[in-house]
Parts: sequence; structure tokens; C-alpha cells
Amino acid sequence: MSELIQLTRENEIAVITIDNPPVNALSPAVQAGINAAITKINQDEEVKAAVLIGAGRTFVAGADINEFGKITSGKAKRGSFLPVLLAVEDCRVPVVVAIHGNALGGGLELSMAGHYRVAVPTAQVGQPEVNLGIIPGAAGTQRLPRLVGVVKAVEMCTTGKPIKATEAASIGLLDKLVEGDLLAGAIAFAREVAGKPAPKTRLRTDKLGTAEQNAALFAAARETVRKKQRGLQAPLAAIDAIEAATKMPFEKGCEEEARLFDQCLYSDQSKALIHVFFAEREVPKIPDVPKDTPVRPVNSLAIVGAGTMGSGIAMVFANAGIPVTLKDAEQAALDRGLETIRKNYAISVQRGRFTPQFVEERMKLIKPTLSYDDFASADMVIEAVFEGMGLKKEVFAELDRVCKPDAIMASNTSTLNIDEIASVTSRPESVIGTHFFSPANVMRLLEVVRGRKSSKDVIATCMQLGKRIGKVAVLVGNCWGFVGNRMFLPYIREAQFLVEEGAAPEAVDASVTNFGLAMGPLAVGDLGGLDVSYRIRKEFRHLDKPGARRPFMEDRLVEMGRLGQKTGAGWYRYDEQRRSSTDPEIAALAGKWSTEAGIPRRSISEDEARDRLIYMLVNEGARILEEGYALRAGDIDIIYVNGYGFPAYRGGPMWYADTVGLKKVYDRVCEFHRAHGALWEPAPLLKKLAEAGKGFADFQREAAQATT
Ligand code: 3HC
Ligand code: NAI
Repeated sequence: MSELIQLTRENEIAVITIDNPPVNALSPAVQAGINAAITKINQDEEVKAAVLIGAGRTFVAGADINEFGKITSGKAKRGSFLPVLLAVEDCRVPVVVAIHGNALGGGLELSMAGHYRVAVPTAQVGQPEVNLGIIPGAAGTQRLPRLVGVVKAVEMCTTGKPIKATEAASIGLLDKLVEGDLLAGAIAFAREVAGKPAPKTRLRTDKLGTAEQNAALFAAARETVRKKQRGLQAPLAAIDAIEAATKMPFEKGCEEEARLFDQCLYSDQSKALIHVFFAEREVPKIPDVPKDTPVRPVNSLAIVGAGTMGSGIAMVFANAGIPVTLKDAEQAALDRGLETIRKNYAISVQRGRFTPQFVEERMKLIKPTLSYDDFASADMVIEAVFEGMGLKKEVFAELDRVCKPDAIMASNTSTLNIDEIASVTSRPESVIGTHFFSPANVMRLLEVVRGRKSSKDVIATCMQLGKRIGKVAVLVGNCWGFVGNRMFLPYIREAQFLVEEGAAPEAVDASVTNFGLAMGPLAVGDLGGLDVSYRIRKEFRHLDKPGARRPFMEDRLVEMGRLGQKTGAGWYRYDEQRRSSTDPEIAALAGKWSTEAGIPRRSISEDEARDRLIYMLVNEGARILEEGYALRAGDIDIIYVNGYGFPAYRGGPMWYADTVGLKKVYDRVCEFHRAHGALWEPAPLLKKLAEAGKGFADFQREAAQATT
């Protein structure tokens, strides 16, 4: 046997062990090894049953995702796993698949080709292929509905969410849960079924339903996908493939699945989603902070400021089981913060996300206080008081006095200079930015802001902690707005310019929501409050490019008291339930103010609006990348996908720009530069790459090669 597959014997039971760390992905060599093991078992008369198990931390996490890029770029041939799965299913003896960790994608498909499946209760199984823009490609859409029925198969293949072993056992996907040693349990199970006829999944039809029942199910499923997974192609393809399972014989259904799989695999959506998968796993890799950098223990947290962010952050840590001391300067603010937390938890209970007992336990972990008394024992402190350098400095000077020597002192500031904040402490090496996004208990993104003196162990701790509390932590440099907001501010400024030139707010927003963003820039402003960016614009006016155009729409709306949803009017009008509608007053005001400002009104196409918004992000992103405030173009993409509602199926702004072609993007930026002036000055890196016929991905590759 190959090193990746071991074939051993426990008397009459053969044991096939897949050993391809870290996640036993089904590389071509693993597939060949399984096939060879089955052939050997078929030839060995003494074997009465077989167990198929994974070595290490998990069963099989699916096909090797690295292979997909090789196939679509023509560097590797697309093979098929189907013959190997048929060989498993047609094995002379019963094959018992033993699952721990995850059986995902091709891993679950392999399990379903086995005759029986047993698992430890902590295992998970699923068909997550849609997250990569593809569908199950090794008969998953054909065998899964045969085992669990059409409804569950559609749910699993369209959402991509794995299910727990306990649920899998209750719906017939697993035959037994094994407490204790999995291999021993699987061998015992194999002994029970040895010598008996083994059921083949592909021959079953009892759960496939009738055409009449299914027609309504598939129609409803397509409707749900179009609403909840707007713009995504793969979930619809998965439904088509499952429908084929209900209408065609198994072999024909597999052919249809393969056709749909190929269609998805070569799509831009799949390439973008695969980029996002790997980029997300790249972000923790920091060249000068190696994986083995020691970390500081974080078993308790203190937060200063129980407002919007402080209360959300408290929930995040409590949810991870970390006790939190939550301090505010005023009792009323503390009460409001706790009330927000209680309300948010109540919604989670209502939605079935948490049990009342879980919430009760989490609430006990949050200790409100008005004093710094408990701060001395906290391993980490996060400051989330009002945005203002004077106040932040006061708080950090106090923290320096009360915190223990090795405590991490973090600021949740969204715009202020971390080095300046750190300068008032005696230990700037322990100071760092942890920039959560609102609502902190919901948004996945966490920007970890590296100060000039932040020590490597503090960086490593915060990056690891990010994962522990369920966030995607991305390390960014200490520049104004860091990465996300530094790009976002010019983007929302451009949205205002579009309205000032004649576009309706809903047309501006639609230009990017039709592109796939969760919300348009103006609706986002209304949601967070137009006063927030108003205050930022005022405070940082001195940083404006001299002589450059300044937007006026939002400033005037704020001065009229139109702050967005909270005042019932901003760019849009809002009713009691905060449902938005177009407000004709905006068009009238924009017309009047623009004429006064000498800005000619004109009709603006959707393409122009979208390009001006998205390319503004790209141009600023290119500057950030060149200046080194983001480590990689992929890091910027991950920030935008996880913190700003950028569609993952477009890969993030930098990936998207590469797919358009940087020459084309650059030409358009130059066109906008000529038409709209200095704020559109092309980023030097964009110019350089466009002229060299390269993309951000090439830049990244070359940078990585230069450092190795
Ligand atoms: N192929 C190749 N590499 C994979 C992989 C896969 N299927 N799954 C994980 N990896 C790699 C990661 O890139 C990472 O590599 P790195 O250490 O060099 O960065 C390493 O394995 C560990 O992965 P994670 O950091 O994600 O580890 P976690 O423990 O947090 O999560 C996991 C483990 C839940 C298995 C997660 O890795 C995961 O979700 N993997 C992808 C599962 C998936 O999408 N499977 C379907 C593949 S497509 C398919 O099977 C098609 C089929 O139908 C034909
Ligand atoms: P907020 O106004 O909701 O809450 C601030 C809280 O700090 C108030 O409860 C106030 O009473 C308290 N506070 C003020 N001075 C204090 C002191 N000396 N000691 C203890 N408590 C004090 O503000 P919000 O929105 O929560 O913002 C907090 C920080 O997070 C700011 O730096 C902001 O820039 C940043 N941020 C805000 C985001 C948002 O969307 N609201 C997103 C990301 C970061």
C-alpha cells in the first residue's frame, strides 16, 4: 500500500486507514490507494468485512481543493472518483466507514458508497461544495437523497452547512454512534455485519418520493435559494442534480451531476470562492510572526465602555466561555449596555440559536462594574469608549496603572492612531488594536491593528484569540481607517458624488446590490447613522487632499436632522418597522444644492455608478497594499467579504479587479481621473501592474517569492 493508505488486518476484519494530513483530502494518490485496498480485500478470502477510517484529527474533508485550480488552468486532468466509489460499494464484503472529525464533500460521498456508517457523537457530516461554487461531484447528489430523502438532501447541498452526527444518525445517514474508541467500535460493528448481504445505497429508491410531491419541493427550494443565496449559481445546480436523482436511473443521474459539476467548476464564481477559501486560511500566516510564537494566556477579559461595541464584544467573549468584566463611567450607560445584551440574547433564543440555559450561563459570565477594581486580574482589556484621542489616552494611562504587567491592552478604535494611544503607557509592546465590526456579536471580521511597538507574542495571541471567539482575524497596519474603513470612506464619498451629479439614491445602491453586495453604501449610512461619518469627516478635514472635491449631501442631511434610520429619515424614509422607501425630497434637495454648487445634473448609467464605487475600493486597496498596511491582496478581500458584505462569489474587490483585468480597471480609473479630478489619481501599484499586464495575484506571488 502507499504511505497515504494503510491496509491492516484485525483477524477477519480488514482496516483501511487514510493518512493524508492535515485533513485526509482525497488527492488522486489517496483515491488510487483506496481503490488498490479494495482490490486486495476482494482477493483475500479470509477477509469478512472491512473498516474504512481516517488517521489523525479527522475522517476526510473532501476532494483536494488545490486540484480544482490545476484542472481549470489546464495543469491537471479532471479525473473521476466515481469508479473508486463503485468499487467500494461493489466490494465483496461489507465496508463500514468510521467517522470522526468531519466527513465533508467527497468524504461524505465516500462514506455513502460504504455499506454502513458509524461515527463518534462529535463528528460532523456535510456537502459543503456550494461554499466553493461547485456541487458534489462524486454522486453526492445521487446517494444523499436516497439515504435521507429529497428535502434534507436539498437543504444540505444548497446551504452547505454540515450536520452533527446525532442528527445524521436520526435521519438514517449514520447507522450507529460509537461512544469511546472509534476503531474498536467500528470493528465490533463490522463483525456483526460480516457475512451478511450488504445494502447498496445506489440501489435504494424508497426515499426518493413521487414526481408530484417533488415538483412542489423543488420549486420551493429554488425560490428559497434565489432569495437567500442571491446571485449564487451552485445551489441551483445542486437542486438540478438532486432532481435528476429523482427522475433518472443512478448512472444517468451521475452523468447529469458531472455535467453540472463541470459547469460550476469552470465558472468565475467557483474560482472566486476557492480563492476566498484559501485566502481565509492564509490570513493567519504572518511572515515575521511564526506559527510557534509563544502566546499569552487569555482566560479573562475586561472591557471599558458598555456602548454599542463594548456590549457586543462582551457577548462575543461570553459566548466563547471567557468571563468578562464590563465597565462604564455611568450607571445609566451600563444599564443600557446590559439591556442591549439581554435583548440580543432574547432574539437568539427566539430564533432557536441559543437555549435559555446557554444564555443564562453566558449572562453569568458578564460582570458589570463602574470601577477598575477587577481589572488587575484581567488577562486582556479592550477599550471601547467614545472615539476621541484625548479620552482614549486618559483611559490607557489609567489601564497602565491598574492592569497586571503581562495584560494585553487593546483599543477598538476605528480611526485613531494606535501608536499615539500606546505612547501614554509604559508598555507600548502590550498595546494593539482589535477593531471589531458592528454588530460585534454578528460580524465575523476582526481587524487586528499592529502598532509600531506591538510585540510579536501580543500579535500572535490576538490572531489566535480571533479564531477562538469565532472571528476571522486579519492583521492590518496602523494607518488612518486601517484597511476596511480607509477604503470604505472614499467609497461612500463617491456614492454622494453620484447623487450630486444626478443619480437617485436607490439607483446608486442598486448598482452595487445588483453586483451582489449585501447593501448599498447609502443604505449602510442610514443604518449606522449618517452622523457617524459626519463626525469623522469633520475631525479629519485636515487630511483632505488640498483643492479636491468635497461631498456636501450627507453633511447637509445631518444638519437637517436626517441621521438615517434612527430619525426616520436619511437617504431614504423609514416607517415604524424601519422599512425604507424612496423620499422624493432627496431628489429635490440634490437638484437644488447641485445647481447652487454649479454641478451639472445628468443621467448616470448603472455601469458607471458600479465602476465608480467598486474601482474606488480597488484603487485605495492598491495603495494600501503597496504601502504594506495589508499583508496580501487576499487579506483585503477577506476583510471586504467578512466585514462589508462584498459578495464572496466575486472573490473580494482585489480578486474581482484581477478577473476584470487590471489594464481595463486602470483605464477606467484614468477616465474617472480626467472627469472627476484628484481623488481619482491612479494608485502607483495599479498603474505599474496594469502597464506590465499583471494582476494583484502576480504581485503577491512575486512578493512571496522574493521573501523566500
Ligand atoms: N483540500 C485541500 N486542503 C484542505 C482541504 C481540502 N478539502 N480542507 C482543508 N484543507 C487545508 C487547509 O487549506 C489548511 O491548510 P494550511 O494549514 O496549509 O493553511 C489545512 O487543511 C487545515 O484546514 P483549516 O485551517 O480549515 O482547519 P480547521 O480544523 O479549521 O477546519 C475543515 C477543518 C472543517 C475540514 C475545513 O478545513 C474545511 O471546511 N475544509 C473544506 C471542506 C470542503 O469544502 N470539502 C469539500 C471539498 S470539494 C469536494 O469534496 C468535491 C467532491 O464532491 C468531489
Ligand atoms: P458608544 O457611544 O455606543 O459607547 C461608548 C461608551 O463608552 C458609552 O457607554 C460611554 O458611557 C462609555 N464611556 C465613555 N467614557 C468612558 C470612560 N472614561 N470610562 C468608561 N466608559 C466610558 O460608542 P461605540 O459605538 O460603542 O464605539 C466605541 C468605540 O468603538 C469607538 O472607538 C468607535 O470608533 C469604535 N467602533 C465603533 C463602531 C460602530 O459601528 N459603532 C464599529 C467599530 C469600532
